[in-house]
Amino acid sequence: MTDTQNTLIAPSILSSDFSKLGEEVKAIDDAGADYIHIDVMDGHFVPNLTFGPPVIKSIRPHTKKIFDVHLMIAPVDPYIQAYADAGADIITAHIEAGPHIHRTLQAIKATGAKAGISFNPATPIDGLKHVIDLVDLVLIMTVNPGFGGQSFIPLMDKITAARDIAKAAGKQIDIQVDGGVTPQTAPLVKQAGANVLVAGTAIFKDGPEHYARNITNIRNA
Ligand code: DX5
Ligand code: ZN
Repeated sequence: MTDTQNTLIAPSILSSDFSKLGEEVKAIDDAGADYIHIDVMDGHFVPNLTFGPPVIKSIRPHTKKIFDVHLMIAPVDPYIQAYADAGADIITAHIEAGPHIHRTLQAIKATGAKAGISFNPATPIDGLKHVIDLVDLVLIMTVNPGFGGQSFIPLMDKITAARDIAKAAGKQIDIQVDGGVTPQTAPLVKQAGANVLVAGTAIFKDGPEHYARNITNIRNA
């Protein structure tokens, strides 16, 4: 089950140097990243804008690691195929992004990608149990989505509840936490049941020669 898996680290390229995205992706690959976490923002669902399918497609040749695409966009459904075509391995949509998350998860699975469902800090986790059959990853936001570098919101009970819903359904899924993850907060979320930790600021600090150290400091925290 999820609580016995090793901790996987998913650096968020939101905190990387966008002027050399290909090199940055290769650098975190070499530094030991498990997933490449790609934050897509639309200036509508969240108050910030990042990039879309063409940019993801352009960095795809720079690594063989899993592309973990976190869509902070609404609507989601019209764009799912474009993200799959761009090279996403996991596509995560927010439950708050529309009224039909079940359909959205079905649409993601239909592309062949793994399907993720994300919950903003104030959104109850209960809905997860009604769609668990379609879910490969649950993403618990521990900041309000939109920006890197924010303070961690302690939602350990929610992480544990997500793990318990997966366990009760007999499903092994990724329990991912995103926002304010540092060597200080990582032990709390791991203990609560998370097995994939997203981190931007804490990994892309001090330059590429420190990425491996920064990843290890979170993984072994
Ligand atoms: C926030 C993004 C996060 C963010 C995390 O909307 O989903 O992935 O980049 O950044 P840090 O690790 O700096 O909190
Ligand atoms: Zn994210």
